[in-house]
Amino acid sequence: MLIRIYRNLKKNITEDGLIISSSGFLVNSMVGKIDFSRPLRILEIGSGKGAFTRELIGRMSPDSQLDICEIKSEYNPWIEQLIHNNPGKHITLHNCCVTQLLVESERYDVILSSLPLKNFEDPGSKHEFLFRVIKAMKHGLKEGGVYLQYQYFKSNKSDIESVFGKKMDDVSFVPLNILPAFVYRMSKSAS
Ligand SMILES: C[S@@+](CC[C@H](N)C(=O)[O-])C[C@H]1O[C@@H](n2cnc3c(N)ncnc32)[C@H](O)[C@@H]1O
Repeated sequence: MLIRIYRNLKKNITEDGLIISSSGFLVNSMVGKIDFSRPLRILEIGSGKGAFTRELIGRMSPDSQLDICEIKSEYNPWIEQLIHNNPGKHITLHNCCVTQLLVESERYDVILSSLPLKNFEDPGSKHEFLFRVIKAMKHGLKEGGVYLQYQYFKSNKSDIESVFGKKMDDVSFVPLNILPAFVYRMSKSAS
């Protein structure tokens, strides 16, 4: 029993970069940074079982579009249930790596990412994949669009700033989450 719990925890941390799903406090802090008063094209990356997805669907207008990118199809039943429960909303699930999805430039108003960026660090390749992912975010965002990302320990903040060519618009701290998290808000300006 204890061994199974330990194995599950280890798998969650090494593969997904988290211990348990994000708390309601973290979800509200991140989703609360989005202005839902107009139709939006939203991309959620790394939905897992849908902690953020549920809130995004609840708040988005019927004429908004939500794309969900989750590399692991084992989470599909949770996301498909949310899609099924909200027939009036435009939602599409993509099971692929985000770098494959983000090929079209200037597509999204909002990108909300739970990606464990820290896990993508690889000094041997000069962090090639980490930077490919962050560059893909910038490429896929419309000018004026917003990239939201949570991280533990304030990691990868300067990596995001170097790709976007500017300081974060805002960094907030959410203590009531396992682990406590920092929420980054980065808008895309004309380059
Ligand atoms: C930290 S978990 C977040 C789960 C959930 N959003 C939450 O906050 O509770 C990260 C998720 O990103 C997914 N993921 C990891 N690498 C990915 C990639 N390259 N493209 C798309 N999804 C990825 C993992 O499968 C995992 O579900």
